[in-house]
Amino acid sequence: MPYAAFRSIGAYVPSGVLTNHDLEKMVDTSDEWITKRTGIKTRRIAAKDEKTSDMGTKAAEVALKRAGLKADDIDLLVCATISPDYFCMPSTASVIASNLGIKGAMAFDISAACTGFIYVLSIAKAFIESGMKKNALIIGAEKLSAITDYTDRGTCILFGDGAGAAVITSTENKDEAIIDVHTASDGDYADLLMTPNGGSGSVHDDLDKEKAGCYMKMKGNETFKIAVKTLTQDVRDILEANNIHSDEIDHFVPHQANYRIIKAVGDALKLKDEQVVLTVSKYGNTSGASIPMAINEIYEEGKLKKGELMLLDAFGGGLTWGSALVPFAPFS
Ligand code: ACO
Repeated sequence: MPYAAFRSIGAYVPSGVLTNHDLEKMVDTSDEWITKRTGIKTRRIAAKDEKTSDMGTKAAEVALKRAGLKADDIDLLVCATISPDYFCMPSTASVIASNLGIKGAMAFDISAACTGFIYVLSIAKAFIESGMKKNALIIGAEKLSAITDYTDRGTCILFGDGAGAAVITSTENKDEAIIDVHTASDGDYADLLMTPNGGSGSVHDDLDKEKAGCYMKMKGNETFKIAVKTLTQDVRDILEANNIHSDEIDHFVPHQANYRIIKAVGDALKLKDEQVVLTVSKYGNTSGASIPMAINEIYEEGKLKKGELMLLDAFGGGLTWGSALVPFAPFS
């Protein structure tokens, strides 16, 4: 049976920076409140003409180069995004495939909000283990600034833009294999985090964002409480199911939504500070892009070594959540 190996990582962050002090001028908030409640100091904002696919393409180029693969080698491209270039079609994955010169590969987007990268990881793993695909390019890319209401202090302080990508390939070597990926959802809580209008459920006829309200709405505090409880349990379950102790984790790479959520889960697992990867203060919440951006950060800092074990977890709109146990397995 073929196994799926996590070969390389890449990321792209746009150059625009939105600070807490900038936000103080836009809504009734303060640097102190944002820092204390979320741990966020700055987020990156894409240029007006910079699309989600542009960022995804740049991240993917880096991941492909680091894996030593060419466009022709890729037979599966999946992009996790809730801020696609176009409302229905073409998929952002198709646009990225075209930008990269990837021809004939299966390419599609998935919508699982902040859990998107864990979902695309599980898709790549399943396709590779079944033998249907050999080389997958998985991407999390978001231009959340395009769906953020900058008059709503409950959400606009949280979100930022960026992209991350990884190459997952088939291997016969079990030591390189992605160990496990958990994915789950509960649509009963769909109303906690949504873009209420603009789709077929919209009560509005026109799609003007201002009028139709295509922006994200969130019941933050309720989401926070469910996130901490669900993630703690999910991460305990995946470790127990695979007989792995939290001491054996080299890098805990959680979705970067809120420092307090990360801290609560880390403390519950008795993780040491040096095991926990934190980028939330710099980039805020970039939804499906946050985990690969965080993995890229430790890779570029020289902290992620061949054979080291990563524990990933994420929670987001849907509701969706998931976790994964992933050894870093570059070709060389
Ligand atoms: N500045 C100042 N005050 C604020 C702000 C702000 N930006 N936002 C809210 N407040 C006020 C509220 O109005 C409230 O005031 P009140 O007590 O007078 O009523 C008070 O601060 C507390 O508000 P809470 O919402 O209870 O604050 P909380 O501590 O829960 O922090 C936050 C809010 C940061 C949104 C937090 O709930 C959170 O991180 N939630 C989870 C987000 C998440 O993980 N989402 C899933 C992923 S996102 C995705 O999938 C796209």
